[in-house]
Amino acid sequence: MSNGIPPSLGTYPATRLRRNRKAAWLRRLVAENRLSADDLIWTVFVEEGNDRETEIPSMPGIRRYTPDRLVKAATEAVELGIPAVALFPYVEGARKDPTGREAINPENLMCRTVRALKAALPNLGVICDVALDPYNSDGHDGLLRDGQVLNDETIEILCQQAIVQAAAGCDIIAPSDMMDGRVAAIRRSLDEAGHGNVGIMSYAAKYASAFYGPFRDAIGSGGYLKGDKKTYQMDSANSDEALREVALDIAEGADMVMVKPGLPYLDIVQRIKANFGIPTFAYQVSGEYAMMKAAAQMGWLDNDRVILETLLAFKRAGCDGILTYSAVEAASLLRTAP
Ligand code: PBG
Repeated sequence: MSNGIPPSLGTYPATRLRRNRKAAWLRRLVAENRLSADDLIWTVFVEEGNDRETEIPSMPGIRRYTPDRLVKAATEAVELGIPAVALFPYVEGARKDPTGREAINPENLMCRTVRALKAALPNLGVICDVALDPYNSDGHDGLLRDGQVLNDETIEILCQQAIVQAAAGCDIIAPSDMMDGRVAAIRRSLDEAGHGNVGIMSYAAKYASAFYGPFRDAIGSGGYLKGDKKTYQMDSANSDEALREVALDIAEGADMVMVKPGLPYLDIVQRIKANFGIPTFAYQVSGEYAMMKAAAQMGWLDNDRVILETLLAFKRAGCDGILTYSAVEAASLLRTAP
């Protein structure tokens, strides 16, 4: 027949995929993927002080919390079934310098926040970023000399940063700096310091992305950043290279790996999961959040549906979990979902 449909036996097709979509109960029954609060890591910003929250203009609905307020907010997250939080500090200008020295101060904001969280909520997982950008007056993740980000010298500080955070009670260290060889060095340093039980979630495939803009506002590093991060973060054009990054991080001792940003890089997640079968996470970053919220505020997208649909897309691509600013919102929606 000219339309390409084989001559039928006088009826329409026997296989009709719409049949399994005809009712909500049936759609639930045949669903291949499911999102639950167990999949969510809540990414949060902290700032110095007491009893205060500060709105972040480019991330409507997201605030920086003082440590005491974060404990309250995290209590709600625990009640909603969220397993872990990932912390990011806002560091005042006076505490930034070219060496990022504040990163290794055992009394810094991060360490005090970790201790407060662990004391109040011992069953909540706490993940800490390792990188110098909140502390470095150049806004870079590493040390700079003659305009170059130094690899091996940076790693020495990152190892100390990992140790002070582990000593404060952090459960998982998440190096986001993209220096070569840092996972092996951090693993060794943690082990030697007696923190053999502290895990490493490496930002294995972290791309030099325009989607990090609002984050840099939120931690106050944006105004400081000189140039871009393209000499250490990955080029968006590449995908084989992501597999090499992951292979190295696994060999160096990473317990789990992460892809970042999220939605525009789900092809990378899928390849990693298929190739390595390692616990694989993705970070729905600040710019992704801002994009969804801005459209929702304009009335152009349905906020709740878009949150759940994007998070489910991460699961479908193969993510074991998602780092997201929407974790609390999503977990409450999952509670009330029909
Ligand atoms: C930096 C770091 C960044 C993010 C997490 N850790 C920004 C950057 O690389 O400049 C971005 C997260 C986000 O955009 O939500 N170490």
